[in-house]
Amino acid sequence: MGVSTDIAKLSFNKDGTAQGVAKQRMIETLAKPAKRVINDPYAEKFTLGSGFLKFLGHNTLVWMTKKLVPGFHEHLVSRTRFIDDLIEESASNGIEQYVILGAGYDTRAHRLKLSASIKIFEVDQQEVQLRKRSKLPEKLSASENIIYVDIDFNDQSLKDRLIESGYDQSKSTVFTLEGVSQYVTKKAICSTIKELSDLSKKTNAIFYISYVSDLINENPKACFGKGYLNPEKKVSLIKKGSAKVGEPWISFYNDEEIEKILSENGFMIMANKTLSDLNPLYFSPVDRTLPEDQIFNLEHSVVAKNSNQ
Ligand SMILES: C[S@@+](CC[C@H](N)C(=O)[O-])C[C@H]1O[C@@H](n2cnc3c(N)ncnc32)[C@H](O)[C@@H]1O
Repeated sequence: MGVSTDIAKLSFNKDGTAQGVAKQRMIETLAKPAKRVINDPYAEKFTLGSGFLKFLGHNTLVWMTKKLVPGFHEHLVSRTRFIDDLIEESASNGIEQYVILGAGYDTRAHRLKLSASIKIFEVDQQEVQLRKRSKLPEKLSASENIIYVDIDFNDQSLKDRLIESGYDQSKSTVFTLEGVSQYVTKKAICSTIKELSDLSKKTNAIFYISYVSDLINENPKACFGKGYLNPEKKVSLIKKGSAKVGEPWISFYNDEEIEKILSENGFMIMANKTLSDLNPLYFSPVDRTLPEDQIFNLEHSVVAKNSNQ
């Protein structure tokens, strides 16, 4: 049975947030090459109404997003760029495996020009993977070095699923968990990190995780730049939007909690960044520096390394 036949048989409602992120990547890709922060030529395949969005163009679409939630677009694309840089650096340092946890419509495996000798494991819910493969050009979705591993993080073992799929515990690996931790239980995240630690006991591992600050509930104002208008209202808008597509935000963390979970599993934090840090790094060089009152710091990007290096 072909991928598209499988997908046609599924009643599908699990990819709302993955589509949302792909849409922001598509919008960024519409910017002039000298002005854009990322380039994802495949994002349009996962974006509803992509023809109309192309007609509107980058500037109008970024302006519209800004009207709704300032800094939201820039946050998402800078998160993607930060991970792109991490993967390219890891690849040039000879990393052998790349595990994309909650891959959704992430297309790094195709757009970063990584060596075909790096084995890439894309891990996500089966329905999302089937849809992704049905939308990508067949040549790409059938790439030999990409292995699709279906899972439900809430009740399946990542370690078992990866080993069954050919993961090699003696090979150096980078794991990324981008924009996922807010959707799954803390118990599932803790056991996933424990499994990553077990999987990489004998070798070097780098782990990227993004998490939403628990200040979102206690003090939303602290999650935005000085002068940001109506922070409580924006937080409520984002939470409602996510719940509406069937994927509510349920888990939030503080810096100490993340550090504790990681260090208990042998990972040491190398970086913890928000848009405040990435704004001068990615937007200033292309003359798009965001002003302080548009800074969206709700989600953090953390890079950790295990103690084998
Ligand atoms: C916001 S999307 C992010 C996708 C991708 N990492 C990106 O940045 O484009 C969240 C992803 O987490 C996946 N996800 C959510 N809950 C999951 C679960 N319990 N098990 C496996 N994947 C899950 C969804 O299918 C979706 O692809």
